Amino acid sequence: MGAVGAGVAIVPMVDSLNPAADTLALASVEVDLSSIPVGESKTVMWRGKPVFVRHRTPEQIKSAEEVDVSTLRDPQSDKDRVKRPEWLVTIGVCTHLGCVPLGQKDTDPHGDFGGWFCPCHGSHYDSSGRIRKGPAPLNLAVPSYVFLTDTTIRIG
Ligand code: FES
Repeated sequence: MGAVGAGVAIVPMVDSLNPAADTLALASVEVDLSSIPVGESKTVMWRGKPVFVRHRTPEQIKSAEEVDVSTLRDPQSDKDRVKRPEWLVTIGVCTHLGCVPLGQKDTDPHGDFGGWFCPCHGSHYDSSGRIRKGPAPLNLAVPSYVFLTDTTIRIG
C-alpha cells in the first residue's frame, strides 16, 4: 500500500514540472514566407509578442544598406540585422514603452524613414527596424530565427 501511495503522489509532481502543451507550442513558431508577396508584411505571435516579418523591396533594402551607421542612435548595420536581405524579422514592440508600431499594412503610416511609426510618442523606425527619430532608445529587436528552407523560417 505504501509503495502504491508513493507512486500516486509522484505523478502530479512530475506533471507540474512539464511545461503546458500550449507553452511548448509557442516556444518556436514556423512562418511560411511564400504567402508574403514582395513589399508586404505578416505579423505572427511568438512567446506572446508580435513578430514582424517583412518581405522587403529592392528599394527598401537599398535605403537600409545606404544609411551611415555612425549617425544612428542604436548603431547597427542592416547586414547585421538580417540573414537574407529581402527578409527582415523583428519583434514588433516599440522600445520606448512597448506599444506595437504601425506599418504592417500598406494603409498604415510608415514614419519618415519608410519602416514603422509608433504613434504613442512618435517613434520612427526605418526599413531595417532601426530607431531614427522619436523617444525610443533602441532598434526593434531581432529574435533568433533560422531558415529551414528558402520559404520557411523558424523563430525561437
Ligand atoms: S511606445 Fe513607441 S513611441 Fe512610445
